[in-house]
Amino acid sequence: MNFHILTLFPEMVMQGLNTSIIGKAVQRGCISIEAVNIRDYTLDKHGKVDDYTYGGGAGMLMQAQPVYDAYRSVADRIGQERARRVIYVTPQGKTFHQEMAQEMAQESDLIFLCGHYEGIDERVLTEIVTDEVSIGDYVLTGGELPAMVMIDAIARLVPGVLHNGESAQTESFENGLLEYPQYSRPEIWHEKKVPEILLSGDHAKVDAWRREQSLLRTKERRPDLYEKYLQTCSVEK
Ligand code: ADE
Repeated sequence: MNFHILTLFPEMVMQGLNTSIIGKAVQRGCISIEAVNIRDYTLDKHGKVDDYTYGGGAGMLMQAQPVYDAYRSVADRIGQERARRVIYVTPQGKTFHQEMAQEMAQESDLIFLCGHYEGIDERVLTEIVTDEVSIGDYVLTGGELPAMVMIDAIARLVPGVLHNGESAQTESFENGLLEYPQYSRPEIWHEKKVPEILLSGDHAKVDAWRREQSLLRTKERRPDLYEKYLQTCSVEK
């Protein structure tokens, strides 16, 4: 899977994504990540990429030309035979969730477009963007952090990125429920004891306990997810 990020701050995304599990997956060749500096593609001799908005209003807008040319440089390299999915990260998009991450993890290439200032000229968006996605109902100063969040969530679903294949499946959301509580050594810490059943060595009992904890936790913390889970269970019956 190849991630391409169109951004005005390439060092920000590359520093963030070149560390820890994602950075190691890049080193092993499971995924590739490149940041393309939109500013490198402006035809303006002063390196300008933004201008005032027609009709007035506060703030500047990213212009169509440098965004389009940066996109073309990536699209031409990817070629026609590979799908060119372009994700514009914007608070106006559909809210990102785990199923979206799973679906996107099937692609061979994903191009992320990060906006700044007041946004991007609508004409280039209508020409190149296939998906508009938000990471939540709050506004950030730019699209880099949302793109990094999405890339992290998608990349960890790519085969080989997580060493322990099981952990992607048992974690919160993968089965529509939140994850059960977990404990490590020591057995007693600050007078708090690890639940007895986890020390029993009885795998069937441990599994049943974890499942029950998952259900309880989801019911308490995310009643919306719990309701949805109950509905899917009754549909499956
Ligand atoms: N850009 C600014 N805020 C954003 C958000 N919440 N999601 C995606 N992109 C954004």
